[in-house]
Amino acid sequence: MAADRQSDADLRRHVLAMLERHWDADRGFCEPNPAMYPHLWLWDSCFHAVVWAHLGDGRAARELAAVLDGQLPGGLVPHMQYGGTRPDTWLGPLQTTSSLAQPPMFGHAVKVLLARGIAPPARTIARAERGLAWLWSKRRTELDLLYVVHPWEAGNDHSPRWDGWGAPGRTRADYDRAARTAWNKDRMADVSFHDDGAAGWSSTFVACPAGFNAYVAFNLAELAVALDNPVLTERAGRIAAAMDEHLWDAEQNLWSDLALVGGGPRVTTPISDGIMGALVTKDAARADAALLQLELTDRFGAPFGPTNVARSDPSYEPRMYWRGAAWPHLNYLLWLALRRWRRLDEAAALARRTREAAVRSGWAEYWDPETGQGLGAIPQSWTGLVVAMTTDR
Ligand code: GLC
Repeated sequence: MAADRQSDADLRRHVLAMLERHWDADRGFCEPNPAMYPHLWLWDSCFHAVVWAHLGDGRAARELAAVLDGQLPGGLVPHMQYGGTRPDTWLGPLQTTSSLAQPPMFGHAVKVLLARGIAPPARTIARAERGLAWLWSKRRTELDLLYVVHPWEAGNDHSPRWDGWGAPGRTRADYDRAARTAWNKDRMADVSFHDDGAAGWSSTFVACPAGFNAYVAFNLAELAVALDNPVLTERAGRIAAAMDEHLWDAEQNLWSDLALVGGGPRVTTPISDGIMGALVTKDAARADAALLQLELTDRFGAPFGPTNVARSDPSYEPRMYWRGAAWPHLNYLLWLALRRWRRLDEAAALARRTREAAVRSGWAEYWDPETGQGLGAIPQSWTGLVVAMTTDR
């Protein structure tokens, strides 16, 4: 059924049914997709909590609590908590969770839940504050930028921005997803760990990604509003200012990444993560210069876009995992950024396109921005974010 012919009520029923099929009632979270992703992932579950909240369902608080209950003694919130079996990849020395970070969307989730009258447990809110404090104290450079020690921590596993680290498959002709995943797996051997198991550093891969920095600053700012906490506001502002000072790329009109260990010139590849600074910058001209590219057809504009890599970039591959395909959770974040800067018509257009593609793709994990064809896991829980973008405003 075409998205514009499906009523809001039908859409909400559809998303509720999908989340219920993916819900693990014993452990209190949705698997992103039971066949392909049978574990808890940090940012996925935070997005699920947002969707539950928009559906007016108390499982929002349960799922957010599940994410933060995995917190390590020192404060890191792990990027994965294992389901029934361990994953096929070594993700650090811990038995039941990974040792890696992931974009800490729990600050935003706390704010959305409270705004929608769903109170997370007090311990969950305290853990969210500690999780952000851990990143601030353990993962911050002298420049006030935050770093990741593995591509999986940034969320965008196979991004062309990681190509400069010597990852295999740097052109369309030689890109091979299995080889690239194997390279990521090998990078775990270069990671060193704190006493509690949290990843601390890597001998080969350390980067300050524009996306990750924007996400941390955004979540600090969101939690600051929710808790009326000026310390969090100040930290968010410092990261945003450091991004503007050290990551802004006036040639691309995007925020680029900074390589600390390894890396190379690909850190300026035009990817839509480089627009995420618009979530937090105070610089209206830069926010505008980045955001307007979402609709430019030689940049990120596409019929079912935005694309994740600029269409005119040689690495753009619309059907490939993190190398050009459109991602619904990124659309949600870009939609928030557009709304922050009052670009309301563009935000509404993005929401409509996302809804159309979600339906057309079968609620896919990601899709071809040229055709809307579903790719990856189908259906994927986070695609339910369409409910937040289109049904109750
Ligand atoms: C993939 C994505 C990651 C996501 C996970 C579960 O690994 O790259 O961002 O959290 O799948 O959906």
